[in-house]
Amino acid sequence: MHPVIEWKDGAVVMLDQRLLPAETKFIAMRSHLEVAGAIRDMVIRGAPAIGIAAAYGIALGMAELKGSPGLDQPGFLDRSFKAVSAAITSTRPTAVNLFWAAARMEDVYTEHRGDHSRLCRELLAAAEALDRADFEINRAIGRNGSDLLRDGDTVLTHCNAGALATAGYGTALGVVRAAVESGKKIRVIAGETRPYLQGARLTVWELQEDGIPVTLVTDSMAGLVMNKGMAQAVIVGADRVAANGDTANKIGTYSLAVLARYHGIPFYVAAPLSTIDHETADGAGIPIEERDKSEVTNFRGQATARPQTTVYNPAFDVTPAGLITAIITEEKVLFPEFGPAIAALQGLRRK
Ligand code: MRU
Repeated sequence: MHPVIEWKDGAVVMLDQRLLPAETKFIAMRSHLEVAGAIRDMVIRGAPAIGIAAAYGIALGMAELKGSPGLDQPGFLDRSFKAVSAAITSTRPTAVNLFWAAARMEDVYTEHRGDHSRLCRELLAAAEALDRADFEINRAIGRNGSDLLRDGDTVLTHCNAGALATAGYGTALGVVRAAVESGKKIRVIAGETRPYLQGARLTVWELQEDGIPVTLVTDSMAGLVMNKGMAQAVIVGADRVAANGDTANKIGTYSLAVLARYHGIPFYVAAPLSTIDHETADGAGIPIEERDKSEVTNFRGQATARPQTTVYNPAFDVTPAGLITAIITEEKVLFPEFGPAIAALQGLRRK
């Protein structure tokens, strides 16, 4: 699959995920404000991909200053970097990878702010390195998680934690891909993921592209699917894992975890270390994005409820650590108690 994001000829090029599965179209962005808009409007989405977009967006924002008369003025670069970074980080609040990537770019900025041309080269190199590293990280998550699946298993997943949500390969779907590559026959059941339909539009699309058998169900069918013994594991991605293991992921994930516990099915979270937020003690401290009510009252311009309807539209929920069987990272698979296991990983991924 072509990467969902790349730097090409001075522009950030992204696959427009809003159009999938009907259309595969790439958009070239030449300003950091366009990149910020693309993150906010979900042209690109999924925590690791949002982090990569942030890094490229910041590199682009600083490159935009080329030839600016202000470059010689004291404090100009500092002020500009702050403004660019703020524009990028104010887009979506829940996926911690966004803030993690911005912090990595700030480290590069601080080290190289003396010379603007050099700074721009270093920022772009850092963004590209972060992008490349994410792909390898997903492969490692896949390898680490694939042992948890047995030949013949069916995996229930939610939202899209696949190649489309990362630099490629995916986290939750990376585990599926690695198990398939190791010779196991694995099937996937994808929850459609109301209201934005990442499961139906994106997960089903990318698994079909790879020839991995996938069955689409509506979110409300999950209980029945588990009750009928149709899934042997649930694997989801994460937008932010708190220090105690509480995990924010796409709305509906918590319900799946409760159902999985009731039915005695293992519930796995697959996420890179950059999704772990050591500063946030538990799920109560994770900011949850609320999105526009039109996502619930309309589908592609067609009203599904009256416009005056009161709507609650949180984009994520928090699954308590106690409902999670294991957290699959690129470093190792973590088992409860997650607090000490997570603390032991602190500082491992800085670059
Ligand atoms: O709103 P989205 O589409 O950005 O939400 C994405 C998810 O919830 C994913 O499961 C999560 O970011 C992990 S992606 C590897």
